[in-house]
Order: sequence, then structure tokens, then C-alpha cells
Amino acid sequence: MSSKVPEEWKNEVSDVLFDSETIQNRIRELGKQLSLDYRNRKPVLLGVLTGSFVFLADLIRSMNCDLEIRFMRAVSYDGTESTGSVTIEGLEFLNIQSRDVVLVEDIVDTGLTLKWICEKLQKLQPSSLKICTFLSKKTSRRRADVPKVDYVGFECEDQFVVGYGFDCDQRLRQLDFVGIYKTS
Ligand code: XMP
Ligand code: MG
Repeated sequence: MSSKVPEEWKNEVSDVLFDSETIQNRIRELGKQLSLDYRNRKPVLLGVLTGSFVFLADLIRSMNCDLEIRFMRAVSYDGTESTGSVTIEGLEFLNIQSRDVVLVEDIVDTGLTLKWICEKLQKLQPSSLKICTFLSKKTSRRRADVPKVDYVGFECEDQFVVGYGFDCDQRLRQLDFVGIYKTS
């Protein structure tokens, strides 16, 4: 799996974790599965900004059922450290009552962001709420009381990742692969 880090990113990325082809193949599988599961239900795919926007864009293009797209925003990290508090924006005008909602996340680490978001969303009374995350960190930091994740792109170790929507201070989101951030 280990393809080479392109020359221009070598100062910041130590390794390629998932290359573009691996990502696209997996997303095609996920899209197929979601299309089957949500056939004739017109789900709302609710992307959590900012990190999930690349994943969501690819995911919907691999789906062939009718669907709608919405976004909300959650901010929980500052640099490579969790700040421990989550700010959520964009729920005011989100009408998801009686809708089938698929929350599309970039990554679940401790799961605290997810827990917080799901509690807020449940108050808006969707008829169902499932969670689709591009990455799931195999971390001992995962809290036991967080919601179950229904669709997972890839599992990864507890490393700080960049690219394919993941950033370090808003940079490196545009990489078409997921890499491990060089911390020095
Ligand atoms: P928790 O711990 O609440 O964290 O599950 C989830 C949120 O933290 C961000 N996150 C990362 N962002 N590279 C990033 O760019 C990472 O390795 C990383 N790990 C966690 C992310 O926004 C996620 O929603
Ligand atoms: Mg996030």
C-alpha cells in the first residue's frame, strides 16, 4: 500500500497511508452499499465541515439513489491537538424532521464530537440517523458511550493524518491521498 510521498509534500508528510486509488475503490463500495440501503428513501447526507467535504463529494458521485446534501460545521481541533470543546454551527435552519439522515464525518477518534453532534441532531427528530465516517481511529481513547458508527471507510492507527480533506491548520486538505503528518 505504501506509495511514495510526492516530492512537493515531503517536508510535511512522512508516509502515504491510503493512496488515491485505494480511497476511490473503497468509496465505490461504500456508495454501492449506501445506495442499496437507502433505495427509495431519499436520504439527507449531512456533511460535517470542514474535513468531510472531499469524502462527501466523492461518495455522492458513487451513489445512484435519490438524495439531498446539507452541511453543518463542528470545530474541535486546534493544530494537532483536541481542544476538548466542540462548537457546532448551522443547525438553526436544518430541517431534517422525519427524514432519513446519514451524518458524513471525516474521522472518529474519541467519538466525543460525534456524540455531541448526534445529541443535537436527535432533537430535530429525524426518522433515522446513521453515521458514515471516512476514517475511524483504532484508539484506546474511544469512549464507550459514543454512538455506533454504521459505515466506515478505513480504520487507522492513532496518528495525525492530513490530506483528502484532513488539514493541519487549514492546509494540506487538497492532497488526493491520506498521509501521516510529520511532527518534528
Ligand atoms: P473526536 O476525538 O471528537 O475527534 O472523535 C474527531 C474530530 O477531530 C478531528 N481529527 C482530526 N483531524 N487529522 C485531522 O485533520 C486527524 O488525524 C484528526 N483526528 C481527529 C476531526 O475533525 C474529527 O471530526
Ligand atoms: Mg470533523
